[in-house]
Amino acid sequence: VAGRLVDTHGRVHRDLRISLTDHCNLRCTYCMPAEGVEWLPRETLLTPAELMRIVRVAVGLGLTEVRLTGGEPLLRPDVVEIVARIAALTTPDGGRPEVSITTNGIGLARLAEPLADAGLTRVNVSLDTLRPERFKALTRRDRLADVLAGLDAARAAGLAPIKVNALLMRGVNDDEAVDLVRWAVDAGHELRFIEHMPLDAGHTWRRDEMITGAEILARLGEAFALTPIAGRGAAPAERWLVDGGPGSVGVIASVTMPFCGACDRLRLTADGQVRNCLFARDESDLRGPLRAGASDEELAEIFVSCLVAKLPGHGINEPGFLQPRRPMSAIGG
Ligand code: GTP
Ligand code: 5AD
Ligand code: SF4
Repeated sequence: VAGRLVDTHGRVHRDLRISLTDHCNLRCTYCMPAEGVEWLPRETLLTPAELMRIVRVAVGLGLTEVRLTGGEPLLRPDVVEIVARIAALTTPDGGRPEVSITTNGIGLARLAEPLADAGLTRVNVSLDTLRPERFKALTRRDRLADVLAGLDAARAAGLAPIKVNALLMRGVNDDEAVDLVRWAVDAGHELRFIEHMPLDAGHTWRRDEMITGAEILARLGEAFALTPIAGRGAAPAERWLVDGGPGSVGVIASVTMPFCGACDRLRLTADGQVRNCLFARDESDLRGPLRAGASDEELAEIFVSCLVAKLPGHGINEPGFLQPRRPMSAIGG
């Protein structure tokens, strides 16, 4: 059955990214306006039982790497239980799915240990600045100390090495690239710089303001000796050893160097829609059929037909590109 998740461009899909909630406890300026966005209506959110039914079908199809995202996934009160239940599923080859989380880190001080005990294998933490005042301006919340405490807790819980995602914005935090790398290498985290993508609720993305991967590399090259690391596979990040290693740094250049040709990801939103791309314009509804009594095979069929419609690339660099209708915070990045 795993063979059913090959798309028309020959890409085998193994990764399911699930948005557990569209809510967040930060208000990053590049993501949401201060007042937040129009949240998903409560009754449309998948219950834990509905979510598990869908994930079981997806894992049965061969989606054996599950990443939980948001919004902020740790805001979901049942997140530990969800991790435990996914980690206990059986993959087609008789193993267990790998469960990871992408979070802003605030909840980790409290949850890192229970999550690790529940079977979480990895955690990626978003952090764009190490300066408290700047963090407050950028996220509109004064919580840098909570993120740093969360990172420590994650390491203590055995979730290391931790990938830290940073987004640089011109005139806001782009002078911190080198400091961020030094800090991460010292702490044993793997830092990745992400190119800003056209995904935010306020449609504020401007190509000419984006800090490109090439620009970041040039800047890092002035401070460090960078040695390329081979063997990227389907991972979005290109990686380099810093000053001969063991520390490394990555760049996720989604816009200027798209990695769509190796994409292995499908997405599930908190309200039960499957997306075949971060930038997809269309979604396939699972919630409706599920609530109307669809069988496992019917749900599997929805995943497969959603995949068939997957385009070869995101189209950001093509004329007529349109942002997805949902903001990043409701897709899960
Ligand atoms: P690892 O498996 O740990 O390397 O995770 P990851 O890099 O796939 O996931 P993470 O959630 O840490 O995402 C890092 C950045 O990559 C975020 O900005 C995501 O939006 C972006 N990203 C993740 N998957 C995709 C994708 O399929 N397409 C594009 N364009 N960007 C993606
Ligand atoms: N472009 C690129 N990355 C983004 N993120 C949020 N919005 C965008 C965007 N428009 C990042 C967050 C977090 C990760 C999950 O996605 O900063 O690190
Ligand atoms: Fe895959 Fe779409 Fe991401 Fe490209 S942009 S890598 S096709 S999900």
